Amino acid sequence: MQLLDLVNLPKAELHLHIEGTLEPEMMFALAARHGIQLPWNCVVEAREAFRFGTLQSFLDLYYAGMAVLRTAEDFRDLALAYLRRANAEGVVHAELFFNPQAHRAKGISFLTIARALKEAADVIEAETGMTSLLIPCVLRHLDEADGMRMLDEVLEHPELVVGVGLDSSEVGHPPSKFTRLFRRVRDAGLNVVAHAGEEGPPDYIRQAIDELGATRIDHGVRILEDAELTQKVARAGIPLTVCPVSNWRLGGCATLADHPLPRMLDAGLNVTINSDDPSYLQAYILGNYEAVRNSMGVADAQLATLAKASIDASFACGKDILKHENAWMRFMDKGKSRP
Ligand code: ADE
Ligand code: ZN
Repeated sequence: MQLLDLVNLPKAELHLHIEGTLEPEMMFALAARHGIQLPWNCVVEAREAFRFGTLQSFLDLYYAGMAVLRTAEDFRDLALAYLRRANAEGVVHAELFFNPQAHRAKGISFLTIARALKEAADVIEAETGMTSLLIPCVLRHLDEADGMRMLDEVLEHPELVVGVGLDSSEVGHPPSKFTRLFRRVRDAGLNVVAHAGEEGPPDYIRQAIDELGATRIDHGVRILEDAELTQKVARAGIPLTVCPVSNWRLGGCATLADHPLPRMLDAGLNVTINSDDPSYLQAYILGNYEAVRNSMGVADAQLATLAKASIDASFACGKDILKHENAWMRFMDKGKSRP
């Protein structure tokens, strides 16, 4: 039997931090552009520093790396590089997270970043038909008032985004800290997503759904520790944007083979496969699909189903979902006709 062609399998990427796609080569190029000194002497040294035991050890480096992102042109170049690579790995639709609060001190506004990312998305859509949407995320380690200032900027241009997310250091910063902020997000008609159950307990997943109104959970891998919640989320079909290589590299599981994804599927959860921060974690979406196939023994038929589920779990408009579903169906039909 022929293996499923994972590269060309049409899929959506729903959990991707654009600042986490900053490859060391671009980091050095931007540092030179802006006369910034990096803590490493060369690209190889930087890449060697990309070893993390915990979410926080990664985040410290992730925020340090962002220092080189200074202008609209930087964000446009970053997004163009990611979108081209993702499209080459079969991504037909991507939803890009970004952290406006982390750039404010450098004098770059939400509007500058969002317009630059949208410009890149439009270029790639015209070139390839791949669609992209933007989701600014609230930094949960800061207080709600700081997030509210970001939201004020977002709500001046809500047409630029499809929703608002919640990310950064999870433990000690429960979703309930941001109840008022996400009520404003929902009142503005925007979607709510939240990182929950990455390092934090299952109750953070419950809070994200019940108190913030999240309709998609980022990571959610600790959900199996709560059987009742697992059943509720499975019954409701709430998508979980799982990032297997990220969880392994950040210490969530000892080996890829120990990752809970197969058990999440057995529990009937609506799982999708994503990359999170592919430069730092050293796997783009294809590497994540390959890890699920090779280290977790998930069958190709199931991988194809997960790719379709990712398209259906996206916030793309009905017309784009239909277009991408059709691409997926054509791809699957072609596979059937091969000897
Ligand atoms: N920001 C970027 N990557 C993240 C992750 N995996 N968890 C929380 N916040 C993040
Ligand atoms: Zn993430």
